[in-house]
Amino acid sequence: MKISVINGPNLNMVGIREENIYGRQHYDEMMDRLCRVAEEQEVALNIFQSNSEGALIDALHAAYADGADGVIINPGAYTHYSYALHDAIAAIAPIPVIEVHLSNIHAREDFRHKSVTVPACIGQICGLGAEGYELALTKLLFMKNKKELS
Ligand code: DQA
Repeated sequence: MKISVINGPNLNMVGIREENIYGRQHYDEMMDRLCRVAEEQEVALNIFQSNSEGALIDALHAAYADGADGVIINPGAYTHYSYALHDAIAAIAPIPVIEVHLSNIHAREDFRHKSVTVPACIGQICGLGAEGYELALTKLLFMKNKKELS
């Protein structure tokens, strides 16, 4: 099973930026931990981070070209206004894409309440910190196993 994890702008600064919101765990530690969880489940993870919208769109297209079984995406602030990312997620259907946010975007500033990308995803996990990525991984595994059994 292959899963792509795509992280958007400023996520590389997690652990340094706004610790009161995003916590103290650094981005690399967070992704290393996710890799260990994936290894235990025999899932091959492809982790990508970029601060550029176009590179994130290319990564979504690449997930499709690589035959990924699922995508976990944290589009960062692009969540709130990137129709291009919405369309890229829609373009790779039927690959299931789960949107993850470390913070609870619904409990923050008004501009964060809306996600323009989530309508193209199967769902959203937010406010659960780094564990949100692990929960998304579990869901994608569950979907894959269910598909194989049916
Ligand atoms: C974020 C929430 C976004 O509103 C913000 O712009 C980010 C991080 C999160 O993971 O909580 O960069 O996606």
